[in-house]
Amino acid sequence: MTEAAVCPVPHENRVHPLGPPAGFEEAVSNGPVKMIWPNGVEGWMFSSYAGVRKVLSDKSFSANRDGAPDMRTEGEPVLDSAQPGNMNALDGEEHLRLRRPLSRGFMVKRMAEMRPRIQRIVDEHLDEMERAGTSADLVSALCLPVPSLVIAELLGVPPEHQALFQATAREMLGKNGSRAEYEAKAAELGEVIGKVVAEKQASGDTSDMIGLMVNETDFDMQELMMLAIGLLVAGHETTSNFFGLFTLTLFERPDQLEILRRDPSRADVIVEELMRYTIGRLGGAGIARKAIEDVEVDGVTVRAGEWAVVSLHANLDEELCPHASELDLERRAVSHLGFGFGPHQCLGANLARAELQILLQSLFARFPDIRPAVPVAEMTFREDMITYGASAIPVVWG
Ligand code: HEM
Repeated sequence: MTEAAVCPVPHENRVHPLGPPAGFEEAVSNGPVKMIWPNGVEGWMFSSYAGVRKVLSDKSFSANRDGAPDMRTEGEPVLDSAQPGNMNALDGEEHLRLRRPLSRGFMVKRMAEMRPRIQRIVDEHLDEMERAGTSADLVSALCLPVPSLVIAELLGVPPEHQALFQATAREMLGKNGSRAEYEAKAAELGEVIGKVVAEKQASGDTSDMIGLMVNETDFDMQELMMLAIGLLVAGHETTSNFFGLFTLTLFERPDQLEILRRDPSRADVIVEELMRYTIGRLGGAGIARKAIEDVEVDGVTVRAGEWAVVSLHANLDEELCPHASELDLERRAVSHLGFGFGPHQCLGANLARAELQILLQSLFARFPDIRPAVPVAEMTFREDMITYGASAIPVVWG
């Protein structure tokens, strides 16, 4: 390879809103390729199942993202990798020191206890939709509020600050998000979290995430604030976008929707297949890592100091399962990469799974004939965020 290709920008350039950016599949079809990102930084792109797993798990790569390839065309990222408590950018023991205690809060048993509360929140929002008539925007009626209330409950933050969580997330994950705006929102959120911290210190309560961090870890206040804000942001943006994208995928595939309708008790495996396929089909650039020593991946040598970016298009690799480029809700669950892989694999995966399962089961049980009010290809999608999703999903029923 003599020249680096230009990285297709995912959100702005999709031929179909649920498909890859134009030119992406061709660009990666012959294996690893060097690309230049919109911020001018060059990096290798890997999109095979084996290659992605290697980049995300091999100790030759660091998660420190300073100066990484980025979809932003202007402005600084709103967060420095070195920000205390930014677990996503730490390696080895430093990372584990933060991650280990938090993972207790996401244990399967704890998530099982959350399920009735998630169900209650979902049912209340479906009641509201039903009361309002026979049409709604799914994004504002369900996708955004449910994950936001669930994560508030898990953390122990009063739910009335929902709008503030969403505004902070917009600045943190906005493609051209402003550092000053993010800091202003984070300071406001910090005040809210600070009050919860003081209450937990006084009561010794460890039943929620902030209580657990305050009373059972050695995290200092700066780390604790960053972790709490990070969880609030990670906990609602991704889940809400993906619930919308899954619903749209099902609207486009009535044959597959029928499989969910026929046996909603299989929602657990159905969510895994929707995640594998939807994320894989969207393709595009994903998570960045920096090589700290020369390392071989998919037949190329990534030199120390070079960037590697993985594409979750790898979810459609035949090495993962037969007919991988097809959606098959009757498939048994496979080890897809939708929640990442290796030491930074999504901490909230069990929570996200529980929410997505309950949301899908409940939505189609309550409104069996729910359908899009306009064709999916004509809906508007958010082009302003690092995470991708629909801005509005107009639906009708009855
Ligand atoms: C459908 C929903 C979700 C998807 C697709 C998703 C995806 C991911 C992915 C791919 C990573 C790995 C990033 C990397 O390797 O650098 C990750 C990490 C993470 N996710 Fe999620 N996530 C979702 C929901 C959640 C939820 C609900 C929470 C918390 C409440 C959460 C918290 C986190 C945290 C804290 C990390 C960083 C873990 C670490 O650095 O050790 N995520 N997520």
